[in-house]
Amino acid sequence: MHMIKIRQSLDTDMPAIERLYPAAFPDEDLLPLVKRLLAEEPDILSLVAEKGQSIAGHILFTLCGLSHSSNQAALLAPLAVAPGHQRQGIGTALIREGLQQLGSKGVDQVFVLGDPAYYGRCGFDPETAVAPPYPLPEQWRQAWQSLSIGPAQTPNQGKLLLPELWLQPALWAP
Ligand SMILES: CC(C)(COP(=O)(O)OP(=O)(O)OC[C@H]1O[C@@H](n2cnc3c(N)ncnc32)[C@H](O)[C@@H]1OP(=O)(O)O)[C@@H](O)C(=O)NCCC(=O)NCCS
Repeated sequence: MHMIKIRQSLDTDMPAIERLYPAAFPDEDLLPLVKRLLAEEPDILSLVAEKGQSIAGHILFTLCGLSHSSNQAALLAPLAVAPGHQRQGIGTALIREGLQQLGSKGVDQVFVLGDPAYYGRCGFDPETAVAPPYPLPEQWRQAWQSLSIGPAQTPNQGKLLLPELWLQPALWAP
């Protein structure tokens, strides 16, 4: 049984990441976005889960701001675990390591658009005070979630201010 090691991604992980995304998301092509974020966006945290010789999972966090406060925030997306490695705690381990590293960088709140049944297990709650870049359809409201990891004294509110690469309505629509 191989141990899982969570570490920063390297350029040499790219071929494995290119195989991982189509396998984890057969109906959605997230690879162009992931590749551009890795290549062009300096303010990201990119972690891989290494199991033996293989890359079993990947997570990206994009650092961002908030329209009505100077607190630092981050967006968790995407998260992918290879089908043969799912339900072994790898996704949770990637989230937890990311949250810890972001907390030590001074990030105050982490946002995610995803299944509340999954992210709720890591402490995320539905978010109503800070809006995503584009309005979400009613059935997705519960999927917009956040987790406070910092010491902010004032509640965050307004809108999440994301880098250009995230400002594609298709990424935020069903
Ligand atoms: C969703 C995903 C990231 C979870 O990663 P993982 O390593 O399999 O998850 P973990 O092992 O940390 O946690 C597994 C637990 O979460 C639950 N879980 C897994 N996927 C879930 C989902 N989509 N919805 C609700 N619960 C889920 C399972 O019930 C499991 O608990 P159990 O085995 O005790 O029943 C992974 O399955 C994946 O990459 N799926 C395809 C891509 C995807 O949907 N990504 C989500 C981005 S929002």
